[in-house]
Amino acid sequence: MKPRAVLFDAYGTLFDVYSVGLLAEQLFPGHGDRLALLWRDKQIEYTRLVTMSAPDGARYRPFWDLTRAALRQAAARLALALDARAEEQLMNQYRHLSAFPENREVLAELARRGIRAGVLSNGDPDMLAVAVKSAGLASLLDPVLSVHAARRFKTDPAAYALGPAALGLAVRDILFVSSNAWDAIGATWFGYTTLWVNRGAAPPEQLDTQPTHVGRSLRDVLALFS
Ligand code: LAC
Repeated sequence: MKPRAVLFDAYGTLFDVYSVGLLAEQLFPGHGDRLALLWRDKQIEYTRLVTMSAPDGARYRPFWDLTRAALRQAAARLALALDARAEEQLMNQYRHLSAFPENREVLAELARRGIRAGVLSNGDPDMLAVAVKSAGLASLLDPVLSVHAARRFKTDPAAYALGPAALGLAVRDILFVSSNAWDAIGATWFGYTTLWVNRGAAPPEQLDTQPTHVGRSLRDVLALFS
């Protein structure tokens, strides 16, 4: 059965998170890749920490704030002197991440076929609006859903529940697409039909569940609608 709509994860899926590594390398030669990787890991760790520690959302802080906190921690871990200017430059780069090259054509083709395509992301609404706009994808993505409305980050069920509620569809009729294996697994557990875009040829997660589909680029979305 074909899905009836698509929701994309944002960071790592539509937007290339590791592209910040280039700027990080300019600012801290020899440490760019490591800083980008530690930054990303710490950012996701913080989302889980605040979500798991308070079921009422009391520990929730917007993704932007956690991203900044994670940058500070990652830089300190590598003993890098992150001054206010470098921090601002890196945060600004995070706001304007590059989109993966195939995205526009895939989203345009989905629109041509009349398939609704949106975003469901940990990013807060401001961050997502700027990222989608600066990548030139604003007219191709609707709705742009932020977990901010639930005050819980993925993989919390309340975060994933925003998708079917907004689209008015059964969860299994929605294709959820993520390059983050953990996100694809969490969405599969929640009930979505899922596509893990395994851009980096990572080994599959060794849990009791696999994503419904596995691909290598966003182009693999189109085959699931033909
Ligand atoms: C997001 C993160 C998980 O966009 O990449 O939700």
